[in-house]
Amino acid sequence: MNVTVTNLIPEAGVKLLRDAGLQVKMPAQDGCPERGEVLKQIAGADAVVTLLTDRVDDEFLDAAGPQLQIVANVAVGYNNIDVAACAARGVTVTNTPTVLTEATADLAFALILAATRRLGEGERLIRSGQEWQWGMFMMLGSGLQGKNLGIVGAGNIGLAVARRARAFGMNVWCYEPNEIPPEQVEALAITKVGFDELLRESDVISVHCPLTADTRHLIGAAQFEQMKPGAYLVNSARGPIVDEQALVQALESGRIAGAGLDVYENEPVVPESLRRLENVVLLPHLGSATVETRDAMAALAAQNVVNVVVKKTAPVTPVRG
Ligand code: GLV
Repeated sequence: MNVTVTNLIPEAGVKLLRDAGLQVKMPAQDGCPERGEVLKQIAGADAVVTLLTDRVDDEFLDAAGPQLQIVANVAVGYNNIDVAACAARGVTVTNTPTVLTEATADLAFALILAATRRLGEGERLIRSGQEWQWGMFMMLGSGLQGKNLGIVGAGNIGLAVARRARAFGMNVWCYEPNEIPPEQVEALAITKVGFDELLRESDVISVHCPLTADTRHLIGAAQFEQMKPGAYLVNSARGPIVDEQALVQALESGRIAGAGLDVYENEPVVPESLRRLENVVLLPHLGSATVETRDAMAALAAQNVVNVVVKKTAPVTPVRG
């Protein structure tokens, strides 16, 4: 049985595939291979291990061929995969939830702190070599203690951010269409609210929902208007959930005080209009980027492949269609 891994992944995953007797085809170098090259490499594969930079659509599935059994995405988000097209061909789709929860929540909270305490601006000042002097009113940010954190999407990552927020003395408000486990609601003293109320009441909003047709541009011009003047927005989920142009306007006009972004609407493009703003912290999609987490993600994706292709059992983490 053949597995194509579209891009280099950690050895933890590759070893698992090879130890199960699978033939593994994988590029020797990290990087984002050309689409044409990927389509060539997946021809005849029984399993494909993909990254969030791969678009899995009919063209991709045609290129792989009818023997394909599983697409194992090494990411929790799977908006890059046409799940219906896979289902129509009987191809299983899996993702890597849970193993990246804490790393991604850490990153989201780092962005909350960086945005509210102006860490990017401070860093740029020091690196510029400009003269500076401690000042009573210099680069004042906003404290978190006693403030309301609005979490959009209280799944694993949203709740992990909520735990951190409680440790910082914040009140946690959540907008989540699905049920939040009652014990979590109680333990974290979560106030469950509708989306409009969350927009109105939050001092900081952190986005943790998946990107779907329903959540594309969930936060746009009208939503910025509803937010508290001087609120902050952090997005470490998927770029298109926020209308980037509307965000630039809200930041430029001072409607909101600042933002922290790990993801972008047309990734990897980050528009100049965002890059020139002082009141936004910009990171290159680092949510799950720790050695431990990437090892665990690769191993989980590989285990999904082994389960489906070798053991003929259910995958550990199938996606909900
Ligand atoms: C990263 O963005 C992921 O979805 O795992």
